[in-house]
Amino acid sequence: MTASPSASLSFDAPSDAFLDRVRDHVRALPESGIVEVMNYGRNRPGMIPLWAGEGDVPTPAFICEAAAKALHGGETFYTWQRGIPELRDALARYHAELYGVPVDPSRYFVTGSGMQAIHIAVAMALGAGDEMILPTPAWPNAAAAAQKAGAVPVEVPLAYGPDGFTLDIDRIAAAVTPRTRALFINTPANPTGFVATHDDLKALLALARAKGLWIIADEIYGRFYYDDAERAPSFHDVMAPDDHVLFVQTFSKNWAMTGWRIGWIEAPPALGQVIENLVQYSTSGVAAFMQRGAIAALEEGEPFVKEQIARARLGRDLVADTLLATGKVDLVKPKGAFYLFFGIAGESDVRKLGLKLVDEANVGLAPGTAFGAGGEGFLRLCFARGAHQLDEAAQRLARWIAGRA
Ligand SMILES: Cc1ncc(COP(=O)(O)O)c(C=O)c1O
Repeated sequence: MTASPSASLSFDAPSDAFLDRVRDHVRALPESGIVEVMNYGRNRPGMIPLWAGEGDVPTPAFICEAAAKALHGGETFYTWQRGIPELRDALARYHAELYGVPVDPSRYFVTGSGMQAIHIAVAMALGAGDEMILPTPAWPNAAAAAQKAGAVPVEVPLAYGPDGFTLDIDRIAAAVTPRTRALFINTPANPTGFVATHDDLKALLALARAKGLWIIADEIYGRFYYDDAERAPSFHDVMAPDDHVLFVQTFSKNWAMTGWRIGWIEAPPALGQVIENLVQYSTSGVAAFMQRGAIAALEEGEPFVKEQIARARLGRDLVADTLLATGKVDLVKPKGAFYLFFGIAGESDVRKLGLKLVDEANVGLAPGTAFGAGGEGFLRLCFARGAHQLDEAAQRLARWIAGRA
């Protein structure tokens, strides 16, 4: 006789029965404020989606081919937890070239994305009840990573004025408490385009030294810098070997590899075993064939990276100039990253505005409120796309702004 499903096998149990046993701090993780508008608009015909933090160019063929070759060549086994030696060597050379630091492969640890790099840094620095200070508006995932570790993200709004967003070190210092363990510093910043000056970085380091804090340095947009220098100011320029700085990094943006999920941490070699353990007990390493692709990116990717930066600079100017010409936007051209963060005169409810722009302009932007304190009244627009699409999006927005009156 075949058994028929009994009531006890029903899948209709009330959801609270499951949610009640999920740990409070995990259940309390916020839903992304960007996803609401994406879900609302993603299938609209002709929609120009500028809400996400990625470009429209697929990973270059030479990177894909290096990964495919390794995959077909049998690199399908468990691998080094810290990353394959060849990739760690390539990372050391890349950093030496870009930042003028000594070549030392033992400082580099391969992770399954910049996001995992952040989780590892947070896991080393923070525990239940500890506080992590972060200037906002900020990409929401860093605060959420702290919350996931049971820690408390403390938002400190950047100052905003005619020069755009700037760091107010006194506000940051005033937010330090006996529970503070880390400063999370993203420069150039998503979503504001804020770029810390060398003086800002020195002041942050001095504060971290005085209070015994970690600095988690997220400089993933460091190459996307529009001030006629090869890269933005970095903690590398001002730190000493004994400073407690953990760099979180990614292949996602420079080399158009967002879907690969591969990044790295740069940290003092003394932390090697701890980081190895954190990788071992989470993902147990990054696929070796993907790491071969990453080596190709570092070794052959310079012309591609430079092209992406030039394209982003053009995109920034194109959209910003069209919007500024309306005379109805509050917008300062960002010095770094690839986002405009701007307000439209008379539009304060940006959550509703994001949805309205989907309906009425067919352009997808992220509401500033998704990025924490200080984001009210702003919209984020990603300009890492081709000029044709950006021009069309800017025209649509300008027409929408003019048509409101
Ligand atoms: C500021 C910042 N840091 C880190 C990341 C992580 O990138 P990924 O997880 O794709 O490596 C992102 C992605 O958008 C970001 O904007």
